[in-house]
Amino acid sequence: MLETNFEVRAASGRPCYILAIETSCDETAVAIVKDGREVIVNEVSSQIDTHRKFGGVVPEVASRKHVETITVILEEAMGKSGLEFGDLSAIAVTQGPGLVGSLLVGVVSAKALAFSLGLPLIGVHHIAGHIFANRLVHELVYPSVCLVVSGGHTELVYCEAEGSFRIIGLTRDDAAGEAYDKVARALGLPYPGGPHVDRLAHESGEAVPLPRAWLEPDSYDFSFSGLKSAVLAALNQARMKGQELPPAHVARGFQESVIDVLVEKAIRAARAYGAKQLLLAGGVAANRGLRERLAERCAAEGLPLLAPPLALCTDNAAMIGAAAYVKWRQGHFTPLDVKAEPLMKLETW
Ligand code: KG4
Ligand code: ZN
Repeated sequence: MLETNFEVRAASGRPCYILAIETSCDETAVAIVKDGREVIVNEVSSQIDTHRKFGGVVPEVASRKHVETITVILEEAMGKSGLEFGDLSAIAVTQGPGLVGSLLVGVVSAKALAFSLGLPLIGVHHIAGHIFANRLVHELVYPSVCLVVSGGHTELVYCEAEGSFRIIGLTRDDAAGEAYDKVARALGLPYPGGPHVDRLAHESGEAVPLPRAWLEPDSYDFSFSGLKSAVLAALNQARMKGQELPPAHVARGFQESVIDVLVEKAIRAARAYGAKQLLLAGGVAANRGLRERLAERCAAEGLPLLAPPLALCTDNAAMIGAAAYVKWRQGHFTPLDVKAEPLMKLETW
């Protein structure tokens, strides 16, 4: 019989082992997190090699790959953890946002596990996962401001208390990671381009001058498509003159422009909202230049900066387990007829 009184189990004092699944884009990931902090296993199977030849993620291919991989990764994660299914306390899954076909594979797998094991299901917003990745390694205090920078999102989020998210600024066009990937492509670098642009930017002593999109003086919004167009125009103009701009100079100019705007707006938001901490989250949080500059600015402001370790910045399931634990403690479970939500809102995480 399906157990429904999960609150009783949540309050039982037993260790809480959450098995979490993340399949929102091109990583098939399964993790087990103990008591919301200890990562027991964190398995990530990347499809990057499959999508690289197309220069980006092909949604239909991504969902088929998830179907092929999910049971293998689940078995690997359980095997490495040394746990039995009976030790688990809940099944968590990224419910949205993301590619609908990819999300569906995770959601259906999580439902099947939760139903067959008689465990509660906890649906999690992908970006809440990125933000709570910080909770795996840091003590979070509130209110805080989080700069979320990933392949699909660029947002400043005000967190008044644990689990309360309010988007105070967001990109009006491309996400930061998307801009990195497009510029990388124009420079002939492989997908995903962010880490390559980051590396080149560090190697270069010179920067091609590029614009910064500050928008209205009081705005916390971002815009990166003009910058991407400026990069393409600079490359084309040089080519028309029979010249080639050194890719490292372009990478450096692009990265400086992105970082200037991200850092200034994040610091201004943290100040305006009385944040006790500034959090960094999402795949672009792995960017060395961004981490260094934010660290300098936060030190000068006396503002604690929290960022996940590099392996927890890009998509993984441990972050979904960390977020799910917050819901677990509140007895906030998800019904088994839940659907994948490609456009899920962070406020209803
Ligand atoms: O969060 P994530 O793994 O996936 C999404 O939820 O979108 O972020 C992936 C993005 C890609 O656009 C990738 O190029 C970018 O993060 N990225 C980086 C770096 N590492 C990953 N961008 C800049 N610098 C990096 N070091
Ligand atoms: Zn992500």
